[in-house]
Amino acid sequence: MTKPVVLIAEELSSATIAALGPDFDVRNVDGTDREALRSALETAEAVLVRSATQLDSEAIGWSPKLKVIARAGVGLDNVDIKAATQAGVMVVNAPTSNIISAAELTVAHILGLARHLPRAHGSLSAGAWKRSSYTGTELYEKTIGIIGLGRIGALVAERLRPFGVELIAFDPYVTAPRAQQLGVQLVTLEELVERSDFLTIHMPRTPETLGMIGAEQLKAMKSTAYVVNVARGGLIDEQALAEALTAGEIAGAALDVFMQEPPVDNSLTGLPNVNVTPHLGASTAEAQEKAGVAVAKSVRLALAGDLVPDA
Ligand code: MLT
Repeated sequence: MTKPVVLIAEELSSATIAALGPDFDVRNVDGTDREALRSALETAEAVLVRSATQLDSEAIGWSPKLKVIARAGVGLDNVDIKAATQAGVMVVNAPTSNIISAAELTVAHILGLARHLPRAHGSLSAGAWKRSSYTGTELYEKTIGIIGLGRIGALVAERLRPFGVELIAFDPYVTAPRAQQLGVQLVTLEELVERSDFLTIHMPRTPETLGMIGAEQLKAMKSTAYVVNVARGGLIDEQALAEALTAGEIAGAALDVFMQEPPVDNSLTGLPNVNVTPHLGASTAEAQEKAGVAVAKSVRLALAGDLVPDA
């Protein structure tokens, strides 16, 4: 009997393959290569992706046998959910798999900005010993503004609280008791941008959140403030951010995500006061194992015709 084809379109942990078990014909393809993806999808009953493979309506249309799209991660912005639903394709993800990793990278970026770690490292590696060029700032008694106090934002708050910071957040969906439990004061977006010494954003990318930090918000920030985006490219308008950084309207930024990934001709990646990483929020052994195993289990259930429980 021929086994159902399960397509792995991006690098996933070995635990993913192990969790799929022996019942499938597991094939690999580079999901960013559209031609290769097209022919691989022709026979696939399930496809597993991270964030680089675009499963848009065109790609879904290439796949007559497709039953499940599995996103080994939190966000679903590279999957056209509407087209999948219309084609009768189930979409599953692993919404809690990498929240700790994303929160930890956020804290790492905040500390990296505060103490100029990437530039100090680069300078000493190049043979210089410039202690006074890298005088930083303590987090203690600084105000950290968190936009989006959902799963990841809340973990960021919990991890930063022991630094003795003041935590403020903008999130219209969070109740005052929940914020209080996290030791966070809820404020308006206007107040948050004005008061923050470090601003970090933890929102999905939707038409409403795209560019929600733009020229107006950046101008309202302190000139000593830093912004961090480990969530989705474009939540902080890239053009406005480049201008604000160049004009000295804010002190610096740390970015793990970009409108276009990998970024091409993006002036932000070359600015001296910007620390960048290549979308590493979920890139830990633990997160990849959790995400891979969770979606592999969902794929098994879905292809067996069983109910897939909410993660
Ligand atoms: C996510 O949405 O969970 C991450 O962006 C996943 C990834 O890094 O591929």
